[in-house]
Amino acid sequence: MTTRPTTTDDAGIPAPSDEHSLSVGPNGPLLLQDHYVIQKMAHFNRERVPERVVHAKGGGAFGVLQITEDVSQYTKAKLFQKGAQTPLLLRCSTVAGELGSADTARDPRGFALKFYTEDGNYDIVGNNTPIFFIRDPQKFSDFIHSQKRRPDNHLRDHNMQWDFWTLSPESAHQVTFLMTDRGTPASWRHMHGFGSHTFLWYNAAGERFWVKYHFKTDQGIQNFTASEAAALQGTDPDYHTRDLYEAIKRGDHPSWTVNVQIMPFEAAADYRFNPFDLTKVWPHSDYPEITIGRFVLNRNPENYFAQIEQAGFEPSNLVPGIGTSPDKMLQGRLFSYPDAHRYRIGPNYLQLPVNAPRVPVNSYNFDGPMAYRNPEGLGFAPNSYGGPVADPALYEAENYHVTGEIVRSAYAKHAEDDDYVQARALWENVLSDTDRAHLVDNIVGHASAPEVTAEMKQRVVTYWTNIHKDLGHRVSQALSLS
Ligand code: NDP
Ligand code: HEM
Repeated sequence: MTTRPTTTDDAGIPAPSDEHSLSVGPNGPLLLQDHYVIQKMAHFNRERVPERVVHAKGGGAFGVLQITEDVSQYTKAKLFQKGAQTPLLLRCSTVAGELGSADTARDPRGFALKFYTEDGNYDIVGNNTPIFFIRDPQKFSDFIHSQKRRPDNHLRDHNMQWDFWTLSPESAHQVTFLMTDRGTPASWRHMHGFGSHTFLWYNAAGERFWVKYHFKTDQGIQNFTASEAAALQGTDPDYHTRDLYEAIKRGDHPSWTVNVQIMPFEAAADYRFNPFDLTKVWPHSDYPEITIGRFVLNRNPENYFAQIEQAGFEPSNLVPGIGTSPDKMLQGRLFSYPDAHRYRIGPNYLQLPVNAPRVPVNSYNFDGPMAYRNPEGLGFAPNSYGGPVADPALYEAENYHVTGEIVRSAYAKHAEDDDYVQARALWENVLSDTDRAHLVDNIVGHASAPEVTAEMKQRVVTYWTNIHKDLGHRVSQALSLS
């Protein structure tokens, strides 16, 4: 017979009972001196942190990135040097649903990577699409409000969603992706990931390049049709969470090939599309994808709350060799994520094991709720008594010249910038006949929700006609408007 340890309270003190509270006689009232039952009830009341305001429902796993090609001519980032192996965490998620919502809902999927590198944490907080609905962070909370629940009746509302989209033509490319069957992936293992934004890479000589990341699933793309996805929402709302966990548990480790597109720094100025506009891709004919390595997921979390719910990903975690770009959305996100973590998890979220870097932290920040790291020396810089010293040379190549008036303005247009041109290319050149038929069905299904008004349906038709007249015509016919 195995001997089982004695239950203790959280202070390690042996507990007298797992079943009975301390009472005055068997039928009498309970006593405040039963510290153990009070601790249990009080701790239970504090078991949750606020769910993420977006991407609340998700799952994740640990793995390793291996770089197989030499890209030292583009970046000096240690994790991207040939032969480097870097441990990582990937969290996949839906965007708009709450913590208990169904995994197979039509939505982009989050694809958030945290690399525990020799130079501290590097996070790529992307999606399963290379683009986004908007191009200015000013519109992000409004966009999300249109996708979440109404403030009055607490219902989600397709009329509200189409209202925002049709008033925001820059959404056309991403909404086209979303309404194809890629909006309902069969599993997280069977979808691509994208860094989506344009980032800066710089090499040891200080030469700079613009880069986009593509993580191509080695399992192959697989999607659900709208009706398959809808059925699973009812029968197994945790389908994707279960799929990833079970696959890793049985040793079927999913992997992604890591590709990049590289643009010479100077080419950005007069590229045919604004290369920093998050609603646009860089066509492969201009910048082909280059394979640099592969990552595999090989370990499930041992504790969901500690390692996935409390994981904090932040686009501002960049390491030497990698920098930001003038993408306005990226700029907004650099602020937003650490701010969200300080609120959602607490100001010392970076001390939790899942978020803590795997290198010594020599920071002058200290104290605050739940702090346990010792500050460096006397806790201030500059000082005359030792301790770490910052090294500006590490980041010199990150600097680039900008100039301009302070304005509130759309991006200056590049030669071929247009809200519909790349969505049109997807419809005209990439989608198969079946993909097109499903796209039309999915749009029509979504716009046929009872709350969508007749006037809104007309606007929906105009939106799709702007992308392509055949697409608009088919949507119009299926909505019985022509
Ligand atoms: P390409 O023909 O070179 O590339 C088309 C891309 O579309 C490939 O990355 C392909 O990769 C992807 N794709 C294939 N089927 C679908 C689908 N049903 N839904 C979404 N993506 C699909 O052309 P361009 O580079 O000139 O791009 C044309 C259009 O393709 C773009 O306007 C954009 O809408 C879309 N696209 C472009 C990407 C890019 O980075 N250039 C990336 C993804 C999409 P795969 O099948 O492996 O996903
Ligand atoms: C999560 C803000 C755009 C991908 C979040 C969270 C916030 C946020 C506040 C919750 C963070 C948390 O509590 O842990 C914003 C803002 C954006 C923006 C302000 C635009 C200005 C984007 C874009 C992408 C993206 C463009 C993808 C390309 C994600 C992902 C998560 C997330 C994947 C979940 C991360 C995780 O798994 O923990 N976003 N977001 N977001 N966002 Fe964004």
